[in-house]
Amino acid sequence: MTKYIVEGGKPLFGEVEISGAKNAAVAIIPAALMVNGVCRIENVPQISDVTLLLQILEELGASVRSINRHTVEIDCTRVRSARTNYDLCQKIRASYYLIGALLARFGEAEVAMPGGCWFGGVRPIDQHVKGFSALGASVTMRGGFIYAKAAQRRLKGASVYLDVVSVGTTMNVMMAAVTAEGSTVIENAAREPHIVDLANFLNSMGANIRGAGTDTIKIDGVPFLHGGTYAIIPDQIEAGTYMAAVAATGGQVLIKNIIPKHMDCITAKLREMGVEVEEHEDTLLVRRTEGLRKTNVKTLPYPGFPTDMQPQITTVLTLAKGTSLVTEGVWNSRYRYVDELRRMGASIQVEDKTAIVEGVENLTGAPVKAYDLRAGAAMVIAALAAHGGSEITGVQYIERGYEDIIGKLRRLGANIYAVEEVEMPAAMAG
Ligand code: EPU
Repeated sequence: MTKYIVEGGKPLFGEVEISGAKNAAVAIIPAALMVNGVCRIENVPQISDVTLLLQILEELGASVRSINRHTVEIDCTRVRSARTNYDLCQKIRASYYLIGALLARFGEAEVAMPGGCWFGGVRPIDQHVKGFSALGASVTMRGGFIYAKAAQRRLKGASVYLDVVSVGTTMNVMMAAVTAEGSTVIENAAREPHIVDLANFLNSMGANIRGAGTDTIKIDGVPFLHGGTYAIIPDQIEAGTYMAAVAATGGQVLIKNIIPKHMDCITAKLREMGVEVEEHEDTLLVRRTEGLRKTNVKTLPYPGFPTDMQPQITTVLTLAKGTSLVTEGVWNSRYRYVDELRRMGASIQVEDKTAIVEGVENLTGAPVKAYDLRAGAAMVIAALAAHGGSEITGVQYIERGYEDIIGKLRRLGANIYAVEEVEMPAAMAG
């Protein structure tokens, strides 16, 4: 098991290059299953969720070729089976995208119930099931698997109204509808940048999707998709995490390879807190020279403040003067990390979906645990800002979604490194 050792209290200075968006990549890679021919995907982040998905495709019979660190060629022409590997699929949440992609390709799918980050409540998939059913698939669950099967080989276009604004459902139904007979309309669709990215990817391979990025998406079914080349957008949340890190530690960092528009919701909140953010064409210069001010944050679907930045912004607010309120508006619960921040001296009370954050002068280093991906990012930010040393365990969660986080932070002057934890044999543990 790896753990991170951090000696905090140093401001960050320099430049950081943002990788491709995790939540776009984890949908686009399964979508390669729908393509007849070679799909060349660029700006692929090197993270463990991507490695796992590529492995799942290979197990299905796809040929996967790494062209360089961030470019991969996937050829799924020889894939014949819609049965996916149980052990690999149950490790990640995004394996649910294999259902939409396999339904589109074969009219059937067999995928393990998805795993992924646990926020302390259920992560339902009822809206996905509702969408697939509307397109004419029967969906059943048994023995840990989800089985989906179209009545005929091709699904049938339909109108799908989502009861909740769901990113995963919007992308999954969009994929399934791409090769369905006739037209599909998704209403109350989510509008996140990665939804637009998936639609652009599919359109560049021959799909006919309009309206992605609005709450109504129209898809005219096409018989098949052809190969092509596509580059994934930069990761909004990775960029936001580095912005939050500079806000917490102080210093000045140029965040490179971003789409400033995607960052507006995060930029606005940091400016309210007294952080300077200068926008350029595809970079942001983030500078913090004075004390942080309190603010209130509510997470909402895009273009609202992203839930995937909630733990990171809460961490920054622990150091802001005054009392801030953070309200989670997407998940029922996402505050497991708060106890860990308290270990470092933060003053936070959680009441239902709201965290009441009383700013403190300093955090102090401590041994803490990453409970999930973004909670892990929050632990890194807290440890970088804290006085003294911290040890972060559970870092496999962080590596699911942040490419080379140690290298990127070290190049900004952070004192952080990874060590392999040697587990003592039970007999010696006393
Ligand atoms: N929901 C339902 N029924 C469903 C699906 C969702 O009630 O069938 C509810 C959820 O319980 C939640 C809300 O709808 O309250 C939104 O969930 P959504 O479906 O949008 O989430 P998701 O697709 O499972 C993706 C990201 C998450 C991110 C959310 C919200 C991936 C693989 N995951 O999850 O990312 O928090 O959208 O933006 O894309 C992360 O990157 O750390 C992460 C957890």
